[in-house]
Amino acid sequence: MNVYPCIRRWLFNRDPEWSHEFTLRHLSWLGRKPFQGLIRQQIVEKPVDCMGIRFPNPVGLAAGLDKNGACIDAFGAMGFGFIEVGTVTPEAQPGNPRPRMFRLPEHHAIINRMGFNNEGIDAFLNNVRKRSYKGVLGLNIGKNKSTPEEHAIDDYLYCLERVYPFADYVTVNISSPNTPGLRAFQHGSQFSDLLSALKKRQSELSSQFSRYVPIVIKIAPDMDKGQVQEIARLLLEHNIDGVIATNTTIDRESVAGHKHAEEAGGLSGLPVRQLSTQVISWLHEILGDRIPIIGVGGIDSAESAKEKLNAGAKLVQIYTGFIYQGPQLIKEIVNDL
Ligand SMILES: Cc1cc2nc3c(=O)[nH]c(=O)nc-3n(C[C@H](O)[C@H](O)[C@H](O)COP(=O)(O)O)c2cc1C
Repeated sequence: MNVYPCIRRWLFNRDPEWSHEFTLRHLSWLGRKPFQGLIRQQIVEKPVDCMGIRFPNPVGLAAGLDKNGACIDAFGAMGFGFIEVGTVTPEAQPGNPRPRMFRLPEHHAIINRMGFNNEGIDAFLNNVRKRSYKGVLGLNIGKNKSTPEEHAIDDYLYCLERVYPFADYVTVNISSPNTPGLRAFQHGSQFSDLLSALKKRQSELSSQFSRYVPIVIKIAPDMDKGQVQEIARLLLEHNIDGVIATNTTIDRESVAGHKHAEEAGGLSGLPVRQLSTQVISWLHEILGDRIPIIGVGGIDSAESAKEKLNAGAKLVQIYTGFIYQGPQLIKEIVNDL
């Protein structure tokens, strides 16, 4: 029996961030061995080989739900094909003032301006080390708000070095709309310089640890075709291992008139579905099968997951759809593929 609709009704009557923290607090102990049975789902194997990794199924948890990596075992028990945690920054930071998360149920959407609130990389790695989950783990890295733009690359390199030994892949998040100046790293020389520096450090780390860990770049949906395809060309030029499309959107056209529409931040869920599928198609025109695309944005059914795969994605991730539908969504998508 699917109890999630009842749980959701109860949670949706409360403040979104309170509900989020309450759920994560409970998931952190539900993930422990004696309790895992309460949340375990048997998901059929639908393996995908990508970036030298075997994914047991193509449905992953998107970054931002478990920013501190505190509930990896719980999400593992639910049957995700892979789990991405973070975004983590070098130092702990509080993020933006509350309220900073808003539900738009009429649109199956969320607006957030969390601002990379997290406990910092030491606490993050403590959690990652303690996990018993054996599946595919992506670690998503960012920069501190207080780090000036001219030193941003140092934050990314520092995080890359720290997470490298524990990650199956590392995601470089340059697409959050909630850290001032971050999205500028998607363009021009800032982008090229960042990619060069990351690849150089990856090569040093792969010799040091005798293990190659793929680097994946996460991009925004708020770009035109020319900008997306310029990114694709630079990803190829720098031999980047993968790309995640997309993060949340700053566009509000589809939710105009909603009482939360004008809240600053990134909009996720159904309103970002078309935008992100479009970005995947544009990327795929240039990348073909040379660099894998992980599709994310508005996936809330098997049909919307297939839309991303048909546009050129090899894997998908879910966040807002998971909040609205619960763990059953993983099963629904995987069964239908
Ligand atoms: C509350 C919230 C927090 C998020 N935090 C992060 C984050 O820290 N890092 C990141 O890469 N993406 C973050 N995201 C973006 C999601 O990972 C995802 O790319 C986006 O929401 C689109 O997918 P969806 O429509 O399935 O939610 C966040 C999304 C939400 C709703």
